[in-house]
Amino acid sequence: MAYDLDQFIADCRATLDRDSGPAGRNEVMKNLERLLKNKDFVDKYCGGDQPTGIKVLYEDPKLGFQVLSHIMGKARVSPPHDHGKSWAIYGQAAEYTDMTEWQREDDGSDPTHARVKPVKTYRLNPGQAGIYQDGAIHSIDYPDNARFVRITGTDLDKIDRIKIDAKTGEIAIMRMTAS
Ligand SMILES: [Fe+2]
Repeated sequence: MAYDLDQFIADCRATLDRDSGPAGRNEVMKNLERLLKNKDFVDKYCGGDQPTGIKVLYEDPKLGFQVLSHIMGKARVSPPHDHGKSWAIYGQAAEYTDMTEWQREDDGSDPTHARVKPVKTYRLNPGQAGIYQDGAIHSIDYPDNARFVRITGTDLDKIDRIKIDAKTGEIAIMRMTAS
């Protein structure tokens, strides 16, 4: 039987309950890649008939992690941003996402400005996932109709995150937005 959403969620619960650190998250990432190879899952939750937007497919009442589908419309390049005190795993379902990982070069003492430089860029194609640990800064660049599934350690709308203007270094706090 194909690996489905219920099985994926059950595995996330068991894994993160045992180890919520990098090793456990890595296992979740591998399982997400497995889930994204299930065509029935992709068609049902990320297929062409799905409306544009972000949908919470599951939130764990005990551990707090979320599984979200991102059905994007127009192409977009996001600014460099973090996921606050959470981690995030991005898994591509349709089209692609060009990921850039950024490194902060200042000492973090100024809450309004940061100096960042890109250190790694790569493309996530359907079936591939990437992981961004607590405080890691990344940016995403995707074409029209990109679709991806994201797993976050907690509901990101409830925590402060930052985005950084790569040119000016200006920091803005993000709340109630998802990117
Ligand atoms: Fe992100």
